[in-house]
Amino acid sequence: MKSKVESSWSLKMKNSAQLLFSSFLLLPLILFLGGSVMAQNTTVSFNVGVVLDFDTWVGKMGLSCIPMALSDFYAAHSFYKTRLVLHTRDSKKDVVGAASAALDLLKNVEVQAIIGPETSAQANFVLDLGDKAQVPIVSFSATSPSLSSKQNSYFIRAAQNDSSQVKAISAIVQAFGWREAVPIYEDTDYGNGVIPYLTDAFQEIDTRVPYRSVISPSATDDEILAELYKLMTMQTRVFIVHMSRSLCSRFFPKVKEVGMMDEGYVWIITDGLTNLLNSMDPTVIDSMQGVLGLRTYVPKSKDLDNFTARWRKKLQQNNTDFERSGLNIFGLWAYDSVWALAKAAEKIGGTTISFQNPEVAENTTDLAAIGVSQIGPKLLQAVLRTRFRGLSGEFNLLHGQLQSTVFQLVNVIGNGAREIGFWTPLNGIVRELNANGMNKYTTSISNLRAIIWPGESTTAPKGWVIPTSGKKLRIGVPVKDGFSEFVKVTRDPSTNVTTVTGYCIDVFDAVMKALPYAVPYEYIPFANSDGKSAGTYNDLVYQVFLQNYDAAVGDTTIIANRSQYVDFTLPYTESGVSMIVPVKDDERKNAWIFLKPLSRNLWLTSGAFFIYTGFVIWVLEHRINDDFRGPLGHQLGTIFWFSFSTLVFAHSNFSSPL
Ligand SMILES: *[C@@H]1O[C@H](CO)[C@@H](O)[C@H](O)[C@H]1NC(C)=O
Ligand SMILES: *[C@@H]1O[C@H](CO)[C@@H](O)[C@H](O)[C@H]1NC(C)=O
Ligand SMILES: *[C@@H]1O[C@H](CO)[C@@H](O)[C@H](O)[C@H]1NC(C)=O
Ligand SMILES: *[C@@H]1O[C@H](CO)[C@@H](O)[C@H](O)[C@H]1NC(C)=O
Ligand SMILES: *[C@@H]1O[C@H](CO)[C@@H](O)[C@H](O)[C@H]1NC(C)=O
Repeated sequence: MKSKVESSWSLKMKNSAQLLFSSFLLLPLILFLGGSVMAQNTTVSFNVGVVLDFDTWVGKMGLSCIPMALSDFYAAHSFYKTRLVLHTRDSKKDVVGAASAALDLLKNVEVQAIIGPETSAQANFVLDLGDKAQVPIVSFSATSPSLSSKQNSYFIRAAQNDSSQVKAISAIVQAFGWREAVPIYEDTDYGNGVIPYLTDAFQEIDTRVPYRSVISPSATDDEILAELYKLMTMQTRVFIVHMSRSLCSRFFPKVKEVGMMDEGYVWIITDGLTNLLNSMDPTVIDSMQGVLGLRTYVPKSKDLDNFTARWRKKLQQNNTDFERSGLNIFGLWAYDSVWALAKAAEKIGGTTISFQNPEVAENTTDLAAIGVSQIGPKLLQAVLRTRFRGLSGEFNLLHGQLQSTVFQLVNVIGNGAREIGFWTPLNGIVRELNANGMNKYTTSISNLRAIIWPGESTTAPKGWVIPTSGKKLRIGVPVKDGFSEFVKVTRDPSTNVTTVTGYCIDVFDAVMKALPYAVPYEYIPFANSDGKSAGTYNDLVYQVFLQNYDAAVGDTTIIANRSQYVDFTLPYTESGVSMIVPVKDDERKNAWIFLKPLSRNLWLTSGAFFIYTGFVIWVLEHRINDDFRGPLGHQLGTIFWFSFSTLVFAHSNFSSPL
């Protein structure tokens, strides 16, 4: 433009003689043009480091989204006075690599914030550097709950921590009533971090964790196989898998190989894996058919659709596996982190940006020579207070991390994942989000869509089998003669095999059968080698106390001395079984009930005897006894009086009626 203006002026002035004058005029114009370019460039650059592994899926995702986030942001906010300037470093899949990259950025570039690092183990070290230099470390992929902003105040997690999903996992386990579950996790900061939270969540729903399977990230295929064979012999069939993508890609094909992807098995993967499901190799997905998983739910939005389309277009040229797998949540979190930082930078943009470098003493190392960012505390507060609607949903930091939201539950079928429901912190398992009116926490299977389990089964596995290995419970039973209804030990003399029968044994068998998991046990008679009783009931109880038996079954009376050594069950011989019968009107409460036995015939008989007794007495007495003489009325009166008096008086020898 400048040259065009210049030439037009020179054209006009060509035939003029006042060339000197023209060049005199040109000077302020050029100055003016230069001035306007200067005026547009008053933006302050704001150095931000990016530390990611260039070769991992999550790293590539971040690297593809972060520059797009930056250009999108300043396209939408062109009037902003600050401009983030990115300095990207490769951490080379290594803790020390991440630390040295961060150190380089802090010391040589004097960055004001760092996005990354990628893994929780790397973050562990880098966070301490950030604290020392007062530089916020914004990670969108270090999800281990062992890292927290309580310990490292300059740590900002633009993601959810892994422990926010444990309630969702335990809700699934509770919904299907599985009483035992085995976590399988990799032996890294990422893997270990969530296990205590998971165990606690299971404890709350009375689900036992009988065993924890730890797999080293560098485990060989043989070591993985050995571990799987071990798990196979145990009774639990519910496994929670929490590991990195690279280990998972080797793990599940082995699972399928040993036949643990058959009917009866339950596999649940945590959100770290489910989020990356799209990126897995088709052969790995093939070995994961029937697996359940949960992933962070991303609400649909126009901005997201728009961004996804542009992302695809931009990366289409390369056409590698990475581009074909599509965008995932880590890219969105990275995108939102950049926006949050850019907003925060603008908020504090006016202040001078400087690092205060310590006085470097002799023989100090690089670590001791890191400066301290002067705007660090302000920037941290600005980022923490940033609120906006990002691509991954509401960007709202609480205690230095994104608040936990909704998880989408999925079932791996075909070459991808199929949604089977949602889990929300408030409502538990629900089929649809935004279902109105429901404010109760439920964990009901009926809220889930149909699930295809491993082995293409459609019935929910019960979660356990009778183990092929493991200790049997040793149950002592008394041997005795006499009353054999409760316990009877019979021994076949030809084979020496003992069989135990009786009411107590039946009760015990029934109880063990009703347990929601398998407990193998065997009855061991409390007998000598010749089959005779080895002692009294006291001795048997004492053997349980000595742990020679795990329990004893039999008609043992509960007495004070014995209960000092063992715990008794409630007595069950008086089982309290009763019948329910309809109630009849209770006549016994009637005041006239005493009349009931006095039937009419009885009254007649009594009356007849009354008269008959009086008559007989009259016949015998009236000739000698004056009382039975006189007028007829008097005689009748005496007769009846006498009969009546026999009811009331005890007549003695002397024959006075009174
Ligand atoms: C504007 O400032 C940026 C960063 O400070 C710089 O890289 C760029 O060259 C400047 N542009 C002009 C036209 O001076
Ligand atoms: C992890 O997230 C949960 C739920 O958002 C929260 O309650 C917990 O405090 C977080 N833990 C850490 C260590 O940040
Ligand atoms: C620095 O190192 C040199 C050589 O090891 C040593 O002679 C000197 O005393 C050290 N200085 C300090 C201040 O430790
Ligand atoms: C059964 O046990 C008795 C006593 O221990 C022993 O003498 C006998 O040989 C055993 N019989 C068989 C068939 O094992
Ligand atoms: C209680 O039983 C034990 C074991 O049978 C016995 O050694 C002990 O003497 C008993 N104690 C009393 C107070 O009866």
